[in-house]
Amino acid sequence: MSKASDVFTLKNKNNVEVTFMAHGGRIASIKVPDAKGEVADVVIGYDTPEQALAGDLYFGALCGRYANRVVNGQFEIDGVAYQLECNNDKNHLHGGSDGFNNRVWAVEPVTIDRFAQAYQLSLVSEDGDQQYPGRLDVKVIYGLTDDNEFVIDYAAETTKPTIINLTSHAYFNLQGASSGTIEGHELQINAARYTPISGEIGTVTGEIVPVEGTPMDFTSAKKIGVAVSSDNEQVKLVDGIDHNFVIDNYDGSVQLAATLVDPVSGRKMEVYTNQPGVQIYTGSHFDGSETGKQNTPIQKWAGVALEAQIFPDSPNKDNFPNAVLRPGETYKHTCVYKFI
Ligand code: BGC
Repeated sequence: MSKASDVFTLKNKNNVEVTFMAHGGRIASIKVPDAKGEVADVVIGYDTPEQALAGDLYFGALCGRYANRVVNGQFEIDGVAYQLECNNDKNHLHGGSDGFNNRVWAVEPVTIDRFAQAYQLSLVSEDGDQQYPGRLDVKVIYGLTDDNEFVIDYAAETTKPTIINLTSHAYFNLQGASSGTIEGHELQINAARYTPISGEIGTVTGEIVPVEGTPMDFTSAKKIGVAVSSDNEQVKLVDGIDHNFVIDNYDGSVQLAATLVDPVSGRKMEVYTNQPGVQIYTGSHFDGSETGKQNTPIQKWAGVALEAQIFPDSPNKDNFPNAVLRPGETYKHTCVYKFI
């Protein structure tokens, strides 16, 4: 049985190295060389498992059962109403105060041809856990290829109709953790539309609107700083970007969703997924009060999370993708972070 502080390492032939903790499956570091061979750790967080366990429990974590928000913590399946904990103002966030980010996952090495190295993380969430219906069996593969792809493959099955939305909550800074903000990073997202939020932070209105003419337009690569500093109402609500983007031409296959580039180091990351949305979160709530890697305060916009997912509050929005999982079905989600 794994212990919370256990740390596991994946390595490939190019010196890319990923470490993660049994606690929350939290990605603790991703070390990637740049074109000159300079290696940097491109995820923000903490230097030691002890610091990580005492700090922000979402850094790099696997979130569930429902990552992102369920408005008022309420949803209905087949006419039966369920009430989840409202742990984020009036909403339910990331599976509740004892979500999957806070569990010790069982971790074992696995051999899969495609990967230089891989681990399977598994978790059983009992019927009624965090007030969700059904016993959920979750298996996640963390795999690293020799093409510098860090792959997260999720699978889950339930004993009763339930809702599910799993994601990974790593914040990236391609110049290196503790190197400043991501304002200079260039982001491109294959999303002509996004889901706006209302005055109540994080609550999606249910609309799906074009990004054109707004700071959310990342259809061509653009500096994140341009968007987060704009005085657009949606940006001001969350002091940056904390929005779900609707992936173009979603068809359930794994496709390129977003590309992040740090022009200073030249490091580039592509995000591929079979999910319909990606939440872009620029870490607006960091205020320097927490100490991160290399004894450096974690400041606002220190990293950007690209969270592949179903849309926020999908269970309550008929025009959003389905988030209900039924017995006999398998939830399958793939997200690939490819470093170039
Ligand atoms: C959400 C933010 C939230 C953060 C917590 C993100 O996925 O979009 O609104 O504050 O998680 O770490």
